[in-house]
Amino acid sequence: MLTEDFMGLVNATKATLATVANDFSPAVFASSLAAEDMVLTDIILRSGLPIEIFTLETGRLHAETLAMADRIKQAYGYDIKLYKPETAAVDAYVRQNGLNAFYDSVEMRKECCRIRKVEPLKRALTEKKAWVTGQRRAQSATRAELAVQEHDQAHGMAKFNPLADWSEEDVWHYIRSNDVPYNSLHDRGYPSIGCEPCTRAIQPGEDVRAGRWWWENPESKECGLHVVDGKLVRIKAVQTSTA
Ligand code: ADX
Ligand code: SF4
Repeated sequence: MLTEDFMGLVNATKATLATVANDFSPAVFASSLAAEDMVLTDIILRSGLPIEIFTLETGRLHAETLAMADRIKQAYGYDIKLYKPETAAVDAYVRQNGLNAFYDSVEMRKECCRIRKVEPLKRALTEKKAWVTGQRRAQSATRAELAVQEHDQAHGMAKFNPLADWSEEDVWHYIRSNDVPYNSLHDRGYPSIGCEPCTRAIQPGEDVRAGRWWWENPESKECGLHVVDGKLVRIKAVQTSTA
């Protein structure tokens, strides 16, 4: 449902981002290039806020996701910074386990996420005072308690989730009314987009994150980017429908 005071919500988000830029410099924004992150990208770039935007380019993203970097360049004249995994670590993993070993076990999947996402994130956050994400409370059971400002113990810095209060409708209302470019996969059944081999389209009525690591037990779903109280976030079982 669209938030009743939508403009109030947008203004609160702008105020949060202005605080991040003023009081937590140098701050960075981690963008997966999906819809939520395009809302934040639009606000940051239109307001000229000094918050660097980066993407963890895992080497396994969809072509449609990668194309967003060029579309951002065209729309805003801004170059998204790409952090890639260490070549030697990826090569060793693929040599020892195969290219798609993440389907074999939860351990193999977590190791791939560690190499392709978690280690590059650590590099991206080095010597920063705060980082910003596009997480929303309504996205999953584990995000139900998400605060706009948190302390990220794992990285020893402040972490901001300026869209914590936003609904999915709010996100799309902002995108449509401000003509914000968005990943074309969203129009093809992908509300949540991660790496290509680990994301699939969902059916109507399914949970928005049902297409992420769909072969795993819901309790094991975690990529290691978001840690709460020093622990990795676990995606609790959420009701899904196969109708
Ligand atoms: S994930 O942790 O399961 O991948 P999700 O796809 O919902 O989470 O994204 C949540 C937030 O994590 C995004 O809004 C973004 O801030 C950050 N994030 C996820 N993937 C990436 C990525 N590849 N590069 C940069 N940030 C990312
Ligand atoms: Fe590897 Fe899949 Fe994790 Fe991407 S989401 S880093 S491909 S296991």
